[in-house]
Order: sequence, then structure tokens, then C-alpha cells
Amino acid sequence: MALVEINQGEPEAPWYDADGLSETPVIHPSATVLRTRVGPWTSIARGCEILDSDFLDFAYATPNVQIFNAEIGKFCNIATNVRINRTNHPMWRASLHHFTYRSRCHHMGEDDREIFDWRMKSRVVIGPDAWIGHGAIIMPGVHVGTGAVIGSGAIVTKDVPNYAVVVGAPARVIKRRVDEVTEAALLRIEWWDWSHAELKEAMPDFRALDAAAFAAKYDALPSMIRAI
Ligand SMILES: CC(C)(COP(=O)(O)OP(=O)(O)OC[C@H]1O[C@@H](n2cnc3c(N)ncnc32)[C@H](O)[C@@H]1OP(=O)(O)O)[C@@H](O)C(=O)NCCC(=O)NCCS
Repeated sequence: MALVEINQGEPEAPWYDADGLSETPVIHPSATVLRTRVGPWTSIARGCEILDSDFLDFAYATPNVQIFNAEIGKFCNIATNVRINRTNHPMWRASLHHFTYRSRCHHMGEDDREIFDWRMKSRVVIGPDAWIGHGAIIMPGVHVGTGAVIGSGAIVTKDVPNYAVVVGAPARVIKRRVDEVTEAALLRIEWWDWSHAELKEAMPDFRALDAAAFAAKYDALPSMIRAI
């Protein structure tokens, strides 16, 4: 039987449309975003649930990402089905079940704030320009460094150094993305704090130079000129 080309439906991600992103965050109508501050040029896709978090400039989450109590750094790339900071249950109590703290909905008195306050103490922090692969899980309280890569399916239980690549469960470092000299230069340059115009101006270098060459070039410029 001959193959038939199908074209059904519209791609929903805003980057398929040249006018799709702007300073106004693009939040899919099916996403739940509560008690969360969101920066410009961000997008949050279908089915995401983001609670009690900061989601900084240019970060994006593709479908079905769940985030609780986290700071998502600028330019973070968060793939489908990632879960960041899902909560622990009180293992020291006689029961793990949530009736002991979500008591109100069980008609057993007031909720127990102690458990919710305890959970809020374990904030996850993701540095700028991190890439979190499909289906990864970031455990409570973990800090993921600037420019780090989390492999798909990783379970991240410990802090991840800047520019490290981690994979597996529990996640372990398999390599560095850039050498230490380049890392230090990128952390001085802090291109993620540049304006939209500055980023656009530097686009030819982002494309043509590798990380080491880019870092060497912009680190050598005086900081006032560096960012145009
Ligand atoms: C982590 C990642 C970036 C590494 O890519 P890479 O540098 O090309 O690494 P390699 O493929 O050379 O693999 C290096 C080693 O890590 C292992 N590895 C790679 N990715 C892994 C993963 N996600 N989980 C477990 N092990 C992994 C490889 O098997 C290999 O092991 P070996 O040295 O024992 O043979 C990539 O594998 C990955 O997971 N990317 C995420 C993709 C994704 O989720 N995209 C979502 C859409 S944006």
C-alpha cells in the first residue's frame, strides 16, 4: 500500500511561529501556574504545573513539566516530563499518608502547616543556561550549576557542578561541557544577563564560535564594551 502523507493539527510550541515569543510570557491555556513569578521571553507548554517558583527570563518548559518550589535560571531548557522538586512525606510519623497534614479535606480538623513549611525549606535552584533532559527528576534541595546538562531519565539527588554533564540514577558526572578556564570566563561574562539587543548583536559569535573561543573573545573585552 502506498504511503500517505498526513498533515493534521498545528504545532503548538510558540517557536514554530516567527512572532511566537515576546516579552509577555507564553503560557499554554492548559498549564497550571500558581504563586509563580515568570520573566520575559519565557514559554510554558501544554500540561505543565508550576507552583511556588521563579521562572526567569528566556527559560522554557515543554509539555508536562512539573515544578514545585524552585528557581529556574535564565535560559534554562526544560524537556518534556521533567519533574523538579516533588515533595517528601513525613517518614518519621506513624503514617505516611497525607491525612495527617491535609486534614481539612479529610474532615479531620485543620491542615498541619509544619509539613508544608518543612517542604518549602528545600528549594531547588537551577543555574542559568542549564539543559534538563527528557523525564529527568531533580530531588528536593538540589542545586544545578550554570550551564549544566542533565541527561534524559536522570535522577539528580546531589548538587551538580557548573558546566557538568550528569546521567543516570543516581546521577553522576560523566564529563565537563567546557574546560575550567572557559567556565571561569563564562561566569565573568554572564551573557545571560545581557539585554535582548546585546544578545542579538552577539548572535554571529554565538553561532560561529565554540564556547572556548566565545569566552576568550568576550572575556578580553572591557565589560562596558563587552555587552555593546
Ligand atoms: C547527557 C547527554 C547530553 C550526553 O550526550 P553525549 O555527550 O553525546 O554522550 P554520549 O552519547 O557520548 O554518552 C556518554 C556515556 O553516557 C551514557 N549516557 C548518555 N546519555 C545517558 C542517559 N541519558 N542516561 C544514562 N546514560 C547515558 C552513554 O551510554 C555513554 O556511556 P559509556 O561511556 O559507558 O558508553 C545525552 O545523552 C542526553 O541524555 N541528552 C538529553 C536529550 C533529551 O532529553 N532531550 C530532550 C529534548 S530537548
